[in-house]
Amino acid sequence: NEVELGEYPHYMLKEIFEQPETVRNAMRGRLDRDEATAVFGGLNLTPQQLRNMDRFMLTACGTSWHSSLVGEYMIEGLARIPVEVQYASELRYRNPPLSPSTLLFAITQSGETIDTLAALREMKRKGHPTMSICNVVGSTIARESDGGIYLHAGPEIGVASTKAYTSQCVVMALLALYFGRLHHLSYEAGLRIVEDLEALPDQIETALTSNRVAKEIAAKYVDCDNFLYLGRQYNFPTALEGALKLKEISYIHAEGYPAAEMKHGPIALVDENTPSVFIVPRGGVYDKVLANVEEIKARGGPVIAVVDDGDDRVAELADDVIVMPTVADFLQPIVAAIPLQLLAYHIAVLRGCDVDKPRNLAKSVTVE
Ligand code: G6P
Repeated sequence: NEVELGEYPHYMLKEIFEQPETVRNAMRGRLDRDEATAVFGGLNLTPQQLRNMDRFMLTACGTSWHSSLVGEYMIEGLARIPVEVQYASELRYRNPPLSPSTLLFAITQSGETIDTLAALREMKRKGHPTMSICNVVGSTIARESDGGIYLHAGPEIGVASTKAYTSQCVVMALLALYFGRLHHLSYEAGLRIVEDLEALPDQIETALTSNRVAKEIAAKYVDCDNFLYLGRQYNFPTALEGALKLKEISYIHAEGYPAAEMKHGPIALVDENTPSVFIVPRGGVYDKVLANVEEIKARGGPVIAVVDDGDDRVAELADDVIVMPTVADFLQPIVAAIPLQLLAYHIAVLRGCDVDKPRNLAKSVTVE
């Protein structure tokens, strides 16, 4: 491979550790402090045309679908624009009633995923303006969309996406900021978001120090056959992504769920051999998720909790704790993704799996 591994045993680990830099690259030149907004070079629509877009449709597959879900929470929360997220493979065969003022975003690391490409073409055919969020420059989806935003994360070699995911989430935050400022968001609120984003690379650096703890926890649970991942709001997609990472590279069955929804099914799986990974940083839903932790503990399930630094309430309940730096709610999914990537990585390595090239999976899926 052209990309050097350097000191790392696997591309996946190397790419996990690149994230302070790749996240910085996703923001480079895109934060405007004077206007307290984001700037994009390639949207190819005027601010007036963009302001007229009253609904967003986000379409993607796999991990990119998860960053789209993060985007849904961010854009609805900060820009107050209705957002719908659709699996590309489903959007193609649906016929949703959409007005011409619905803006389509295709989110894809490779820019080549066939279902995402087909969904893009179908939406273009129906007359919707289309944007792509791609990593690979000059890829088919980047070329065929009306405008777009590149991640600039550099080549991602590991089949399981890591750095592209966090960069996609950063671009979602930039979009939420941009559209928020186009509509109702105040200068002060915009500036706070700009500052939160500027601090993010250092916080990711801090989150990476959980590597040692993640490895210890991995050794403890390496033989479990089932995992649950639970989180709410911004961290519901985090739970889905954490479960997908584990599934993809370790072949362990894992389910991600909105934490409160576990009462409607997944809790039946809980026993002493089924760990639940809770993403429970402080924030609006903290107490509610804490109650869910208690319910799992009461049924004898081990709990691994991703918590804010200095949180001892969860630590009292959980069997194992991974600490992440405290960040604004909307940035939690980006920072919390790091320890979950590391946990999946170490479990897979301990199980002797080929983490960079998991069985049956492809980096880019070009068959329907
Ligand atoms: C494959 C890869 C995943 C990726 C998905 C979507 O399944 O293994 O890591 O998330 O395709 O790929 P894309 O390039 O469209 O983001």
